[in-house]
Amino acid sequence: MSVPSKTQKPFLQALAGETLSPPPVWLMRQAGRYLPEYRATREEAGGFLDLCYTPKLAVEVTLQPLRRYAFDAAILFSDILVVPNAIGRQVAFKQGEGPVLDPLTSRADVEALEPGKLRERLGPVFETVRGLASAIPSTTALIGFAGAPWTVATYMLEGGSSKDFSVAKSWVYSRPDDFAALMEVLIGATTDYLIAQIDAGAEAIQIFDTWAGVLPETEFHRWVIEPIGRITRALHEQRPGVPVIGFPKGAGVLYETFIRETGVDGVGLDASVPLAWAAKTLQPLCTVQGNMDPLLLVEGGPLMEQAVKRLLDTLGHGPFIFNLGHGIVPQTPPENVSRLIDLVRAPR
Ligand code: CP3
Repeated sequence: MSVPSKTQKPFLQALAGETLSPPPVWLMRQAGRYLPEYRATREEAGGFLDLCYTPKLAVEVTLQPLRRYAFDAAILFSDILVVPNAIGRQVAFKQGEGPVLDPLTSRADVEALEPGKLRERLGPVFETVRGLASAIPSTTALIGFAGAPWTVATYMLEGGSSKDFSVAKSWVYSRPDDFAALMEVLIGATTDYLIAQIDAGAEAIQIFDTWAGVLPETEFHRWVIEPIGRITRALHEQRPGVPVIGFPKGAGVLYETFIRETGVDGVGLDASVPLAWAAKTLQPLCTVQGNMDPLLLVEGGPLMEQAVKRLLDTLGHGPFIFNLGHGIVPQTPPENVSRLIDLVRAPR
């Protein structure tokens, strides 16, 4: 049975397994610092988290890229780190430094987390989703999202971004019970958070596991595949019909097992995934999304044109959503984004 509103939305059609020409297109971090209007609204908000927690402004920055470019999807403007914040940790974004958190240091810190407070504390995010659901064009889909438990755990344990993940890995290897307790909290909180986004109007979900690729195979199964699989199955059971995209960045050949074992409807490919291999091995399993290098979008010109052509030639014959392999970077010229959309949509 197909829901009528879905038939108008190419992004949801592609996630349901349809091959579309041209494919739907959206870009990770399509709202962000490369747009002067984003920088102005961010200035007005004060801090980055104030922007995320002020529905009027969060709705505004989500819509800004849609006014310039006819993307097939809008992604809720928020951040993966609102979850640790909502369950009781301090999170700050300092200009030019990235996120800073008060790191968890003990089992007692894990036990003091407050997943029961999440829904109330993230009320403004759900209000943003409701505002967007009624504001976006009828052919544009609304994507909700969360960070995957492993990636969120790395920020909570390291206290911010990391180069080698030595603190998070020391929990994985030398304090497995404490680490498992933290992951249980995050799996529950993330599921709860995503269900509330769906109830507020999100039509598809993306789970970002940015640091999936730093785990060895055994730990990848336990801490990437298992948690995302549990969240995906819970969403499919409790809110059937809402597709889930997994983005296990850097998973390499483990992308295949990831798709088979999590049951995701779509998978985000990072820029290192070979296209012919993805077409042969991954695309028969689910819809693929990606994976142009964001730095080629900065470069523009013939190199970008060739990359777009290659992507469409290789992945355009099956269920495919055009995207980048990671988020847009701040130095991207906005006119290159227009050119990219034109290239993806050009008659072929
Ligand atoms: O347009 C969109 O894609 C929606 C909004 C969105 C943001 N962050 C806004 C943001 C999404 C989906 C995210 C996800 C996110 N956040 C991830 C996973 C995807 C990825 O990029 O790997 C991660 C790891 C984070 C954590 C995070 N947030 C970091 C490490 C940083 C600092 C680095 C940076 O780019 O500044 C942020 C800040 C952040 N989140 C910004 C934006 C637009 C920039 C903040 C600013 O305005 O200064």
